[in-house]
Amino acid sequence: MEIIGSMSAMQRFSKALRLSGKTIGFVPTMGALHEGHLSIVRESVKANDITIVSIFVNPAQFSEGEDFNRYPRDYDNDIKKLGGLLADAVFIPTVDSVYPDGYKTYVEVRGLSDKLCGQFRLGHFSGVATVVLKLFNAVMPVRAYFGLKDYQQCVVLKKMSADLNLDIEIVLCPTVREPDGLAMSSRNAYLSAEERLDAALIYKALKEAELAVKDGSLKVRAIAPRLRETLSGVKSITEIQYASAYDPDTLDEITGGARVLIAAAVKMGGTRLIDNIMVDLQAAEGVVC
Ligand code: PAJ
Repeated sequence: MEIIGSMSAMQRFSKALRLSGKTIGFVPTMGALHEGHLSIVRESVKANDITIVSIFVNPAQFSEGEDFNRYPRDYDNDIKKLGGLLADAVFIPTVDSVYPDGYKTYVEVRGLSDKLCGQFRLGHFSGVATVVLKLFNAVMPVRAYFGLKDYQQCVVLKKMSADLNLDIEIVLCPTVREPDGLAMSSRNAYLSAEERLDAALIYKALKEAELAVKDGSLKVRAIAPRLRETLSGVKSITEIQYASAYDPDTLDEITGGARVLIAAAVKMGGTRLIDNIMVDLQAAEGVVC
């Protein structure tokens, strides 16, 4: 497995592969790889001649006071895990190579970036869109893979891709969970033992709302108050940033519709956790809006 450390070296590597007719699948990550990341890498390995995984803790998507400095970094273990999955290259650029002195260009996906997580993480999605576009230009993939755990990120990046006419298929992959339902995340490592137990209750609350809406005992417009009530009863949750029903395309809060995204972001002390479930109400019986 190749290990590549700069934007220019990455471009040279990919250009040669593309010229020889190979399909490149790309999985961008910030490292500290867990089964959620690895499941995406496996999808890419299955569907493409070559799979390239990037590991880059992107300063542009962290705001002041967030966890950029303490974000877990474990390159040696990450490389071992990727080698075992038959990834072909790991791209680990330096911050200077991605954002050299005098760097000035940022991508903004208007109208989607300021909702949900964007209300609490100013500039976050501009940082994500910018780095992903730059990584795309270095890796030159045919397909790029993202996890639905970060649902808003998927919507923002799909829109960027369509608006900027990128010739890259954006593939969205299901959320991988711990046995108790907690969505896997590199940030779960920050949780104390008690917080870790309570963290499973986030998915439980979303799942309960989903089932109640599907069996008709909860109206879509009552999802938000129900979630707030359940989540505010969880001892380790110190702040509920959002918890409601959203339109999966526009990310606006909704009171009905055929497809409903139930999503929440909470803080447990200094740790921010997000999760979501997509509910298809057309397939369910007894739904009241
Ligand atoms: P990171 O949090 O490392 O996640 C890398 C990819 O793995 C993302 O597409 C994310 O949605 C996916 N992922 C994380 N946890 C998952 C889980 N439990 N199940 C399925 N997929 C999961 O997301 C980022 O990095 C960054 O914002 C990035 C896109 C790399 C840009 O810097």
